[in-house]
Amino acid sequence: MTDNTQHIDDGKAPSDSLIESPGLYPEPRKLLSENVVDVGILKTLVKRSTISVSQFDRESVLELYKLAALLEVTEIASSHPLDGKIVITAFFEASTRTRLSFESAVLRLDGKVISIPDGRTTGTAKGESLADIGEMLNAYGDLVVMRHTETDSIEQITSKLRLPLINAGNGTGEHPTQALADWYAILKWNPQLKGETAPEKRIHLGILGTPGSMRAVRSFLDMSLLFRQGIRKISIVSEMADPLGPRLENELKESGVEWQVTNDINDVLSDVDVIYMNSIAFLGDSYRTLDSRFKLHGGSKLKPGAVVLHPLARLDELSPSLDDTKHNLYFTQAHGAVFVRQALLIATLDRFDRLPKSIPISSRSGESQEAVLKHPTESA
Ligand code: CP
Repeated sequence: MTDNTQHIDDGKAPSDSLIESPGLYPEPRKLLSENVVDVGILKTLVKRSTISVSQFDRESVLELYKLAALLEVTEIASSHPLDGKIVITAFFEASTRTRLSFESAVLRLDGKVISIPDGRTTGTAKGESLADIGEMLNAYGDLVVMRHTETDSIEQITSKLRLPLINAGNGTGEHPTQALADWYAILKWNPQLKGETAPEKRIHLGILGTPGSMRAVRSFLDMSLLFRQGIRKISIVSEMADPLGPRLENELKESGVEWQVTNDINDVLSDVDVIYMNSIAFLGDSYRTLDSRFKLHGGSKLKPGAVVLHPLARLDELSPSLDDTKHNLYFTQAHGAVFVRQALLIATLDRFDRLPKSIPISSRSGESQEAVLKHPTESA
């Protein structure tokens, strides 16, 4: 069997990779080169459910990121953008980040949250259908964020739900807001990837995982194809014989991006610029680990400027010895999700008119005002 660990993980980061911060917390203002948010583009999201990455194009994602970046650097608490709105978080599968970051996003915008943190506390324990729960939720709030173990849970609940629904992970299906958060972190790290990128600046993207079976990895790959003009090559590293399935394989073929599948991390490790990894998948009726023999740690021979993303939770495939290195983009990825989700909530609930005037939006062109920055000592 191939030795995929190769380098010894002594629990410590190599001393030459300790950094002050740029890899850990890239500056969101790099995304604000034209910082007027085009509400016309974001209006396409109003009252719309977010179920799949396939609903987005690059233009709408970039506009959402512009708003997210402005929310990240602007004092907004006093504007109460979601005042009077109730968001229902309905989680029928475990979550640390997605539920809490959505709830934090709502509460920081002065909206209200009611929550099902564990589906077993609902009528499902008595055999109630998701369709009937959907009918009830229509009366209780303005938007639903749902995670469920079953891939067809979206179809089940939307048979009766009339509120906008944000898919927070459906079985082996999709996790679209995770993919939005993933690329928000990547573009903060390297804003050149927003548009046409010179060939020598394009990245080699390594994906450690099985996109065909893991919803976060699938959504990440789909979102990556929206930014294909910044990608030189995609390498999928998986122990599965067919990690993609026919749809993703076709999409990759049609994308024009060079791609390969390998079962040995050492084939690509020294060349990849961005590594996306995950190992936990909910398959059938339980959590399983896939591709967990591929491990990264402080001793892994990564390219000097490479960054690592992981949707988390992690097991031992991603060692904490990488946490304090310049390769760690995964904490930025998780932290930035709050602002991406705030931007999506504001758009879906059509609360652009409640944004502070310090956030420049297209319908207010002509009024150029300085943002009230959270960190006023930083230069814009
Ligand atoms: N990334 C992610 O979905 O994390 P949680 O499972 O903790 O929500």
